Amino acid sequence: MAVLVTGGAGYIGSHTVAALHERGDEIVVLDNLQQGHKDALLGGKLYVGDLRDGETLDKLFSENDIDAVIHFAANSLVGESMKDPGKYYHNNVYGTLCLLEKMNQYGVKKIVFSSTAATYGEPESVPIDEYDRTQPTNAYGETKLAMEKMMKWFDVAHGVKYISLRYFNAAGAHASGKIGEAHDPETHLIPIVLEAALGKRPHISVFGDDYDTEDGTCIRDYIHVSDLADAHTLALDALRAGKDSAIYNLGSSNGFSVKQVIDIAREVTGREIPVVMEKRRAGDPAVLIASSSRARQELGWNPARSNLKDIIASAWSWHLNHPNGYSK
Ligand code: UFG
Repeated sequence: MAVLVTGGAGYIGSHTVAALHERGDEIVVLDNLQQGHKDALLGGKLYVGDLRDGETLDKLFSENDIDAVIHFAANSLVGESMKDPGKYYHNNVYGTLCLLEKMNQYGVKKIVFSSTAATYGEPESVPIDEYDRTQPTNAYGETKLAMEKMMKWFDVAHGVKYISLRYFNAAGAHASGKIGEAHDPETHLIPIVLEAALGKRPHISVFGDDYDTEDGTCIRDYIHVSDLADAHTLALDALRAGKDSAIYNLGSSNGFSVKQVIDIAREVTGREIPVVMEKRRAGDPAVLIASSSRARQELGWNPARSNLKDIIASAWSWHLNHPNGYSK
């Protein structure tokens, strides 16, 4: 039996492919390589193509004995989604519809889904649990919520079982040093801070120090990408063992402010990291911290690598050895 990983050449996808490969799973990857990198694949059989291309899906479902899907392929930039929501509805929502229809056609009834804390929007209280209100404040989060709801109705109508994993702030790199975070453009805090440490950027711009938090900067829950990868393998195993559909938050349950992240990065790198204070970035909630007890209890998930210093150290080692990402 093979698992299809869509978006498997992307950041979290490639770390999940690595985790599946390490335990000897048979893996098929579908990636259009718009954001993904061929070199990020440490295993699996790659099909280059798009979710919305029925012929590619027919080919990979008919050529392989696929019984389950892990679905990452999507656009995931909050800012871009506010400028071009149509792109997000087309690629994320319509793309997922195409995938679910093909899964149903080929009798594939299990899907692990890459979701996000952006489905909650501004939380009513923290830590956030899975029963809290979902009211996205950006188009990206709204499309991920729409994708989750689509899966729910494919379950009701066709028995497609899904486990949706709502990540908080993914960061860090694989222990092998071979794969890590390489987005273009890069918008995430930790890689940008490390690029400033490397001298690739003149400084880090901090978006707002007037939030209602202790030091005035936003607080986030950072989770190691390989801990996220583990959650996908556990969710896949649970579905294969007959588990019913479910939604889980994935975070470390600890919050760190932007200033704290920069301080820890200074400690880890031993470099100066110049800071420039800027205005708030639109749509940023002040505090996002996950309650992940459900994933721990029901999936047996143990995010053992998610101490922030360890996360930043693993990302730093990737950045030092791959200053130009996958291009060198
Ligand atoms: N930040 C800065 N300067 C930067 C970049 C980020 O100050 O140059 C701040 C942001 O304002 C925010 C924090 O650092 O307060 C973290 O920002 P990221 O962009 O790294 O992450 P987000 O919390 O905005 O977003 C992440 C994922 C999204 C997901 C969201 C869910 O990247 O895909 O969590 O809440 F939707």
